[in-house]
Amino acid sequence: PPAQRMKVEKTYSAAGQRVKVSGWIHRIRNNKSLVFVVLRDGTGYLQAVLPGDLARAHQTSTLTLETSITLYGTITKLPEGKTAPGGVELTVDYYEIVGLAPSGEDSFTNKIAEGADPSLLLDQRHLALRGETLSAVMKVRAAFLKAVRAFYDKFGFTEVTPPCMVQTQVEGGSTLFKLDYYGEEAYLTQSSQLYLETLLASLGDVYCIQESFRAERSHTRRHLSEYTHIEAEMCFLDFDEFLTHIESLITNVVQAVVDDPIAGPLVKQLNPDFKVPQMPFMRLEYKDAIKWLNEHDIKNEEGEDFKFGDDIAEAAERKMTDTIGVPILLTRFPVEIKSFYMKRCADDPSVTESVDVLMPTVGEITGGSMRIDDTKELMEGFAREGINTDAYYWFIDQRKYGTCPHGGYGIGTERILAWLCDRFTVRDCSLYPRFSGRCKP
Ligand code: 4AD
Ligand code: MG
Repeated sequence: PPAQRMKVEKTYSAAGQRVKVSGWIHRIRNNKSLVFVVLRDGTGYLQAVLPGDLARAHQTSTLTLETSITLYGTITKLPEGKTAPGGVELTVDYYEIVGLAPSGEDSFTNKIAEGADPSLLLDQRHLALRGETLSAVMKVRAAFLKAVRAFYDKFGFTEVTPPCMVQTQVEGGSTLFKLDYYGEEAYLTQSSQLYLETLLASLGDVYCIQESFRAERSHTRRHLSEYTHIEAEMCFLDFDEFLTHIESLITNVVQAVVDDPIAGPLVKQLNPDFKVPQMPFMRLEYKDAIKWLNEHDIKNEEGEDFKFGDDIAEAAERKMTDTIGVPILLTRFPVEIKSFYMKRCADDPSVTESVDVLMPTVGEITGGSMRIDDTKELMEGFAREGINTDAYYWFIDQRKYGTCPHGGYGIGTERILAWLCDRFTVRDCSLYPRFSGRCKP
């Protein structure tokens, strides 16, 4: 019978049919009388067996890993106890090689040899992405971004795409990537926040999923020079509603990923102990975190006890989060250690209506705050950071033409994925990670 062209995933429910499936040789085992191939096409893995003459054919002995190939044959359902992806096997009766991959020195296995220097592996990222783990993370990532969009859609947010080439800073001058913009100084955006704020009056609640850029010189497990930033801005709400929104976003989106028929099993595989966090998250004020750190003998950057006003750097934050072991909404940071735009708390003007969401293993995955909605206060914020406000006239106008209480946040996609997929570093959650010293492939 004529073969029907099919993606691997569809073959799982095609028992009895003659099919034509194209993909890459993911694994191959030669038993002389039988050759077993695992075919990969991005939708799944298919176990195939080449019997008799096909197994003995000279051409079959030349097949290598990562050769692209079209297999023709019949799908059979495997009996209980015999396991293969989708519970099926393809008995091949004919095949065509599309592109034979190299053997020997240049073979795929040599290129991405296990235990190789991580930097060599990153040079071969385009090949390494074909591996089971990295491709699983990328599938989870896709399901995650889809769930994020669905969540915002459900609550009436409008998606926008602000510019990436800008003349304003959001998170401090030291991590700006400068560029020569036809002779003028410009930067790659650190955050789309300021633009999102300007859109509240025209579009209502808004969000974007866009690359942000940070010139972070230090090499850490959780810093990239380019990362996918999920940012949202909402108006006419208070700090408490704001916090509830964030935990609801995280729990709902993560639940949707875990429930997804493709991504769910992959999360299980990557992070077998993962549990979707329940609302409400633990809320911890910065001042109580300082107390907690001192009680647990965790020291600040100078190796001393923490004092009010100290930055809680990555190592201390991670120790605290891992010890507490549950998601934390860390709130009310002091004005001095946060950005110019953060609103002060009405009951204590030394602290801000700000939040970092901390997850075990990664630490901060989200930062956000209510925004200053008064022009004079905002100008004081700019002055404190020594920012020349000329380039910010459009942002300041937001307060002049009908100001409103508003707040927003940014989620680091690679950070939340590192938590969800239990990866040691955010680099494993980015397709082609960028950090100082690496801009290829
Ligand atoms: O805490 P950040 O710097 O906050 C902002 O940019 C706000 N303007 C966002 C907003 O309110 N719209 O960054 C937000 C998140 C962090 O919590 C972290 O998850 C991620 O972005 N992030 C990074 N991820 C990878 N590499 C880096 N260098 C990152 N810097 C921040
Ligand atoms: Mg932050």
